[in-house]
Amino acid sequence: MDWGMANRMSQLIQPDGHCVFMPIDHGYFLGPTSKLEQPGKTVEPLLPYADALFVTRGVLRSAIDPANTKPIVLRVSGGTSTVGADLANEGITTSIEEAIRLNASALGISLFIGTEFEKQSLLNLGKLVDEGEKYGIPIMAVTAVGKELEKRDARYLALCCRIAAELGARVVKTYWCEDFDRVVNGCPVPVIMAGGPQADTEREVMDFVHDGMQNGAIGINLGRNVWQSEHPVPMIRALRHIVHENASVKEAQEIFDSAKAGNGRVASVPA
Ligand code: 5RP
Repeated sequence: MDWGMANRMSQLIQPDGHCVFMPIDHGYFLGPTSKLEQPGKTVEPLLPYADALFVTRGVLRSAIDPANTKPIVLRVSGGTSTVGADLANEGITTSIEEAIRLNASALGISLFIGTEFEKQSLLNLGKLVDEGEKYGIPIMAVTAVGKELEKRDARYLALCCRIAAELGARVVKTYWCEDFDRVVNGCPVPVIMAGGPQADTEREVMDFVHDGMQNGAIGINLGRNVWQSEHPVPMIRALRHIVHENASVKEAQEIFDSAKAGNGRVASVPA
């Protein structure tokens, strides 16, 4: 791996091999999603506990302080909306020059495998990988399911992750599912878990994050289940413990309860 690529990967994936990304890119197709109406305000208290921020160029420029942030995974696919005809009909929205200007550490693109736009989406990935490799910028492929959340099973997600890796993604982000080891074992590059819509309880989220980590994920890219929680900072702290400290679900729950009660404010070195 070239020095630039290796350097960017190491900004994202921490020395323990794990990572906590904080996605706030949802507005690119959802508009002002609940609790993300003012993304800068939402993310500010969470940043100390994140290893990287997943964001579009518009929100990055307008809401994130360049002097006080984390490495950036730039969302560069889009062109559709939740009220439009088909979420799968995405293109590349941001040039590689713009990504370099914004000092992106990686680029993120969604894949819509099994849809009418599968080929377009996979060719977009191929082109983006070509550009990224030219400049030493890793590509994170996102296995999107659009509105069809029931697609999140091991057989489908394993297929998506493997194809993403075959086309050159350096990292793949996918949903947690039952038999998650099948997804990870078939994918030759690191796998990160996304969260999806808000779960009924925080415990449910801790359970699946723990299971995914035990089954080979290297980390998380969880948005709504953190910032739509009534207790976003305790939530990210609890999840960070699972990812970086190998905490059990019980230990994570204790971190959550303690942070919620106000015992343990922002630490200079997150724990
Ligand atoms: C949205 C994304 C998000 O980054 C991803 O889905 C993670 O966020 P969440 O945990 O809220 O699902 O790719 O397009």
